[in-house]
Amino acid sequence: MDRLSPRQKHCLTVMDIQIWEARTSTHREPRTPALSDNGQSLASMPAHEEWLALQHQVTQCVRCELHVTRTQTVFGMGNESADWMFVGEAPGAEEDRQGLPFVGRAGQLLTAMITALGMRRDQVYIANVLKCRPPNNRDPMGAEVRKCESYLHQQVAHVQPKIIVALGRFAAQSLVKTTRPIGKLRNHVYTFEDSGIPLVVTYHPAYLLRNPLDKRKVWQDLCLAKRVLEAA
Ligand code: URA
Repeated sequence: MDRLSPRQKHCLTVMDIQIWEARTSTHREPRTPALSDNGQSLASMPAHEEWLALQHQVTQCVRCELHVTRTQTVFGMGNESADWMFVGEAPGAEEDRQGLPFVGRAGQLLTAMITALGMRRDQVYIANVLKCRPPNNRDPMGAEVRKCESYLHQQVAHVQPKIIVALGRFAAQSLVKTTRPIGKLRNHVYTFEDSGIPLVVTYHPAYLLRNPLDKRKVWQDLCLAKRVLEAA
């Protein structure tokens, strides 16, 4: 699926949901097969081996300086053919220690959000924009995001979720490619890059720990995501 189909657009319009699609450039670079950092082509491998090779590649990654301070990389976790994909910012201290995404306090709240949607954590896929923890949980830097983003693209291409939920300002701005504030990004349906996969934005669970009254807004966002998925 390259973009939203006419039927998906119709369903979203009937639901009074505004559709924002990524602008497509008139010039497209030819698609090059994914290469591991040692130059090996991942294109000829069966999908699962390719997935394992990608995970291994991330464990070895030295593309940016975060490799110096990380305890370990955090690739992602969950069902590799999930309908739902949640994308956060970057591992925190607990995630860096365990090598798994969203396992700290914010992670418990994310689990509650997934449960409220009627699913278990192992039925969805959870990943981050960055695979390594920025020291002292500082904001990720643009260069770090650029060096890491092909990993997330390959994860999305493999999982092929039916909906992506960006968690928090940083993930939202990175995935939508904008600097608009998160409050202005909510309540719209985007598409992830040129994949055609719908994407919605909501607040980060860590923000909700500090602002519990906004849980209502997050629930609205998750309901929007559910409607989009069901209309697909
Ligand atoms: N915050 C994130 O954005 N990701 C995690 O994995 C944990 C906390």
